[in-house]
Amino acid sequence: MDNKFLLPNKAERIILLQRINLASSFQKRIRKFFGRYFFSNFVTRFLVNRDDVAITYYKTMMDEYQTIKSFIDEADNNFLSIGSGIGGLEVIINQNLNNKSFYFIERNFISRKVKYGWGGKHNTEAYNDFELQKIFLEKNGIDKNNFYLFDYDHDKLPLIKFNVITSLYSLDYHYDFNIYINYLKRVSTKDTKIIFDTIRADYFLNIFKNVKIIKTDHDTVHKSKRILCSNFI
Ligand SMILES: C[S@@+](CC[C@H](N)C(=O)[O-])C[C@H]1O[C@@H](n2cnc3c(N)ncnc32)[C@H](O)[C@@H]1O
Repeated sequence: MDNKFLLPNKAERIILLQRINLASSFQKRIRKFFGRYFFSNFVTRFLVNRDDVAITYYKTMMDEYQTIKSFIDEADNNFLSIGSGIGGLEVIINQNLNNKSFYFIERNFISRKVKYGWGGKHNTEAYNDFELQKIFLEKNGIDKNNFYLFDYDHDKLPLIKFNVITSLYSLDYHYDFNIYINYLKRVSTKDTKIIFDTIRADYFLNIFKNVKIIKTDHDTVHKSKRILCSNFI
């Protein structure tokens, strides 16, 4: 792979919605001026260059991989991603570790007006498309027998024990961790590594025995921290 992802037709739109920081300053200015509806439905459809997104999304996911790579290794076999977006991070994990299984819990619709706020328990926002995600994962080297997509709104969620659970800028960033807490207790062991972004890292000292800050984000609106947690109290 040539320092960029292979994108299926139209994937650039959802990637830009999932990762608003990939938008150019020109696109962001249009969003500010004309509003979110216009941005979500016009700019992302007609004013986005697929090749630019393929390159910047790859670079961004490589940077994200650097933040977690020292915490995962060949002994980890089952990976769960909650709110992965199209799955660029998992493609990079797959390039670095052999023959792992990737489980995704996502949603299969695009909100008409993407707000990127804290949705708390309401959690109404989503911007993903399972058909595009499947093509993306296969095009970029994940064998179709090694990944499983679950729709948060309609599917029974997988009940196996995971080694690594990641949720970048999704769980406890856009919606309350407690939506998933009972599920996560069922699918983790005391050694499962659970990695996510939050603005309330201290809150998790009462939820997990181990909480480690692995990245501090000064750039995001919310000033979040990425934490690595294990062993529910
Ligand atoms: C800001 S994007 C982040 C995507 C990706 N993790 C990344 O870092 O590029 C948040 C993602 O969470 C998904 N999402 C929203 N609610 C969800 C839920 N209850 N369960 C799983 N995913 C959800 C959205 O569809 C969206 O793809």
